[in-house]
Amino acid sequence: MKLHYQGHSCFIAESGGKSVIIDPFLNGNPLARIKPGDVVVDAVLVTHGHGDHLGDAVEISRKNNVPVIGTFELVNYCIGKGAAGHAMHIGGSFSFPFGRVKLTIAHHGSSTEAGSTGNPCGFILSMGGKTIYHAGDTGLFSDMALIGDTNSIDCALLPIGDNFTMGIEDAIYAVGLLKPRIAVPMHYNTFEVIKQDPEKFKKGLEGKPVKVEILKPGDSLEV
Ligand code: NI
Ligand code: MN
Repeated sequence: MKLHYQGHSCFIAESGGKSVIIDPFLNGNPLARIKPGDVVVDAVLVTHGHGDHLGDAVEISRKNNVPVIGTFELVNYCIGKGAAGHAMHIGGSFSFPFGRVKLTIAHHGSSTEAGSTGNPCGFILSMGGKTIYHAGDTGLFSDMALIGDTNSIDCALLPIGDNFTMGIEDAIYAVGLLKPRIAVPMHYNTFEVIKQDPEKFKKGLEGKPVKVEILKPGDSLEV
């Protein structure tokens, strides 16, 4: 599986000629290198309704005629805006033509200008024999140990920005619970309030059985 980073929490995962975009915050994302019109994917995964995650999901769904995948409330909101959708909920998984998606808990909020869009989530995404965990926006929670025990995570994408989500210390603790082969920090340096030095995350995990990959927007990673 190949991961392409677009800054903040936006990744494109690609395997076997299929690809999905997660949290497509492109317009208004000062770090993004591509525009929604450049995105060709088989699905749009969205962790919650906040603008820096929902982003351009509806436009990308409409243009590619592919489903937005997320919680029932958020997907129905997107369908109301003209997107296609596949509603799921926490704990549920489903096999799509591109791979398997499972929704995990995340401790955060989820809303749009229209009001609440239910609970936020994280994703366990398996494609081409590899499994990634995108935590969404969340604080540290002990059930990450359960996620680590029940999945062999090749790569964990973890917020480190603090203020709205886990900061660096909690993200380091999360890696110990999730036991991924690779850890990638996300959700930092997009805005002043979430300014962080990702090297501190890497340093904090030195000597631990994990490889930390710090990606710059536009970078790709073979998982
Ligand atoms: Ni959020
Ligand atoms: Mn966010």
